[in-house]
Amino acid sequence: MIETVRNIFIELYGDREDIRTYFAPGRVNLIGEHTDYNGGHVFPCAISFGTYAAAAKRSDRKLRFYSVNIKGGVTECSLDDFRPLDDKSWTAYPKGVMWAMAERGMKMDCGLDVVIGGDIPAGAGLSSSASLEVLTGVMLRDLYGFELSNQDIALIGQYSENNYNGLKCGIMDQFASAMGKKDHAIFLDTSDLDFQYVPFVLKDEVLIITNTNKKHSLTNSAYNDRRRECGEALEDLKKAVSIDSLCDLSPEEFRKHSGAISDPVCLRRAHHAVYENQRTLDGVEALEKGDLEAFGKLMNESHVSLRDDYEVSCEELDILAETAWKIPGVIGSRMTGGGFGGCTVSIVKKEYEDIFCRTVGETYLEKVGYDCTFYVVSPGSGPEVF
Ligand code: GLA
Repeated sequence: MIETVRNIFIELYGDREDIRTYFAPGRVNLIGEHTDYNGGHVFPCAISFGTYAAAAKRSDRKLRFYSVNIKGGVTECSLDDFRPLDDKSWTAYPKGVMWAMAERGMKMDCGLDVVIGGDIPAGAGLSSSASLEVLTGVMLRDLYGFELSNQDIALIGQYSENNYNGLKCGIMDQFASAMGKKDHAIFLDTSDLDFQYVPFVLKDEVLIITNTNKKHSLTNSAYNDRRRECGEALEDLKKAVSIDSLCDLSPEEFRKHSGAISDPVCLRRAHHAVYENQRTLDGVEALEKGDLEAFGKLMNESHVSLRDDYEVSCEELDILAETAWKIPGVIGSRMTGGGFGGCTVSIVKKEYEDIFCRTVGETYLEKVGYDCTFYVVSPGSGPEVF
């Protein structure tokens, strides 16, 4: 892919000595879903699928973008034309990051020609947008000499997605992309960004992502509603107990105070957040003890809670997870990411990989009417400048 974006750059904009190339990964979350905007823990890892760019500075204030994946030719605009919340094209992601950097005083002194391409399946919930944001951050840092850590880039990506693209996402996706480390998952406390790399190398098992191939779009969807419902639950709880976020509560404390939440829907949302946070803590502890079976059980419980309490699963995801649970050799299986489509993540014993793909694939086709897709992945590294 890196060669492709470079060659297309040369074809479109001409050969130049100063062409630079970049990569930022997508992510899969192992456990800890919809906890990242509730001050809880998450446990994602970067994957080898990601987004690539070839870019070079211009001498004027023009921006030219081209996507290898999205038809539409070269999009041209100016560095003086940013329209937060009113820009629906794919270029709103890189432009959002440029805008967010400028808001923080990091102004680009000239425009840019860029070609972007990626191998993250579109709409799969594997964070193609976060990867594009982090890629842009890394590219701007390199080209314009901005002083930023990878963690700063993650925060700028989240800020731009919240305020330029209008999705009130948490920090997980951008953090996982910017901070990824080969063979490790990231145990992140989203309340203070304290994190720890946890080795995640499977010996006798494989990590399989199964794509429903049902397109999902988080923007303008129920995602922002979930966030609002959690906020309402928090406001109610604050009348009974002194907390800053839902995940400040242990399950025991939650049981004690949950009566303060007046709306039954908000109660279920909060229940998910608190228990999912606990599952994430327990899951990492189990992994550290080498108890993969316990981790798998928690993954299954996470799916049930996302399906029933948080209501962000869908028929297609449920078919994938519920079919997987019945197959011997499946350690755990759950929806991953925001939900409403996208993928499941499963840990499967190596010798059952074929049976898993065959059984899940056939059942899915029969019940849904089109194919799902399987990717065997392992935790990959963070961004790269080539
Ligand atoms: C999306 C958001 C993340 C996170 C997940 C759910 O991927 O971008 O911030 O909230 O959903 O865990």
